Amino acid sequence: MNDVLHHNLNYKKYVIDPRLQYFKPHSIKIVKSFSDEICHGINRDSKYILPKFFYDKKGSNLFEQICALHEYYPTRIEISILKKIQHELHSLLDDSYRLVELGSGSSVKTRLILDVFESICDKIEYFPIDISEILTESSEFLLNDYRYLSITGIIDTYEGGLEFIKHYDDRKNLIIFLGSSFGNFSPSEGAKFLKKISSTMKKGDLFLIGLDLVKPKHILENAYNDSQGVTAKFNLNVLSRINDELDADFDLTNFQHYAIYNEKDHRIEMYLKSLVNQSVIIAKSNILVNLSKNELIHTEYSHKYKITQIENLLDVAGFKIKKMWTDDDKFFSLTLAAKK
Ligand code: AVI
Repeated sequence: MNDVLHHNLNYKKYVIDPRLQYFKPHSIKIVKSFSDEICHGINRDSKYILPKFFYDKKGSNLFEQICALHEYYPTRIEISILKKIQHELHSLLDDSYRLVELGSGSSVKTRLILDVFESICDKIEYFPIDISEILTESSEFLLNDYRYLSITGIIDTYEGGLEFIKHYDDRKNLIIFLGSSFGNFSPSEGAKFLKKISSTMKKGDLFLIGLDLVKPKHILENAYNDSQGVTAKFNLNVLSRINDELDADFDLTNFQHYAIYNEKDHRIEMYLKSLVNQSVIIAKSNILVNLSKNELIHTEYSHKYKITQIENLLDVAGFKIKKMWTDDDKFFSLTLAAKK
């Protein structure tokens, strides 16, 4: 493995083979540890665990299972829209673009966009940005399936990765952020994040975002309370993770998955409900957590949007919308935008 410091950026370059390389920040950023963040969220009256902690190996697998459930319509419908718009994307792109993905795409969705690139470019460049090194695993499969593809993974936060791309070269970027992952941000974080994206874009760059739309409460609640209990396992798994990594003694049978749609704020709210009065020790964080019966630990918001709200969000963040697509039932949206 070659190990070079990339010019004027504080990233180390790891060349695995001629078609696969990674960049990783050279300096160790000051980040709060898992223990600090759990402690901060749980050692208080209104308790929370950040949704980013769902995605350990087991949680990521459970999320994949959720995406395959019929009740969890977002993945299925976003894929159907992508298939429908492939030819339009073809006409909106040309061979001066590369594909940049926020998150690492092992999924069908990335492939549907790579297929468009394959029909346009002799050589496809794909830059996934992901904090977890999981992208090393998905890359191999993509390289096997796309002969003219080269992958440059950026192992960093989305913000760090976007900054990296801004200074990398002059090639045009199609930045994609799919799956309504944006909906997991709080409104203020989300607005800040969209501004960050538009500020790192240059003329000609494009941004494609997939967002889940407001719809009747029962459809939303069924999607987050599936009949096979996969979402419940996904939610509860974060407690197993804390048990394993922080030497805690959460008894999972004393908690219940709880997801409701908040119609006022247009969001699914996910919680873990304590079924009894209980005390839990988190040994590595050196804390004792007292929970009363029916007390809730907040674990996730999943915002749903109205079309007008999407238009407004993007406008305020400095984007102009080029095109918006939905399915016939208006369950899910894909929006292509450029910088104003
Ligand atoms: C990743 N994210 C967009 C999913 C969502 O729908 O908010 C996570 C999820 N939570 C429960 N089910 C799926």
